[in-house]
Amino acid sequence: MNAGAFWFSMGVLLILAITLVIVGYLLIQGMMTVPWIRTTRRMSRKMLEMIDFRPGDRLLDLGSGDGSIVLEAVALGGEGIGIERLGLLVWVARVRARMQGIQTKALFVCGDILKDPIPQASFVACYLFSEVNKELEPRLQASLPEGTRIVSRDFIFPTLRKIESQRFGGSTLHVYEI
Ligand SMILES: C[S@@+](CC[C@H](N)C(=O)[O-])C[C@H]1O[C@@H](n2cnc3c(N)ncnc32)[C@H](O)[C@@H]1O
Repeated sequence: MNAGAFWFSMGVLLILAITLVIVGYLLIQGMMTVPWIRTTRRMSRKMLEMIDFRPGDRLLDLGSGDGSIVLEAVALGGEGIGIERLGLLVWVARVRARMQGIQTKALFVCGDILKDPIPQASFVACYLFSEVNKELEPRLQASLPEGTRIVSRDFIFPTLRKIESQRFGGSTLHVYEI
């Protein structure tokens, strides 16, 4: 094997090793609570439409992953804040916002939605498990103003006032109001 082929193989191995470490990190963290599954642009738009999110409104994404829903909220003329416990995903979301030049409108915070204070917002999105929603519910009721609209992908909140549920793209989207 010549030197060029050797260094090429080493490069490929390095990229594979880094990919494995990142995937392993996300899998292990995901197994501990809710795994990261990304909401597509189309689905994000539908979720925002269902809570009647408009230009100038502020969205809070609880467990924001790579920032997809917040970035879509900004694309619609609003602003957004995402809270995510995995630092790597917060970093990815910030890079995505910076690449789109919207980093002042799309903020991403590394934190735990079950422990840290809930920022003010009148529109909330989440894609978590029902057990997490159950634990989150009293915190939302205590922190968010009356009339706040919440859209939850696939998982229900046990006692929040439900406005509607709709099937969309293989998911069920639930809208609630505080
Ligand atoms: C199914 S993903 C949804 C990501 C994003 N909202 C979307 O729809 O594209 C759930 C996310 O919630 C995060 N998460 C789970 N529990 C959390 C907690 N207690 N505090 C903050 N983030 C949490 C996970 O790390 C994961 O990125």
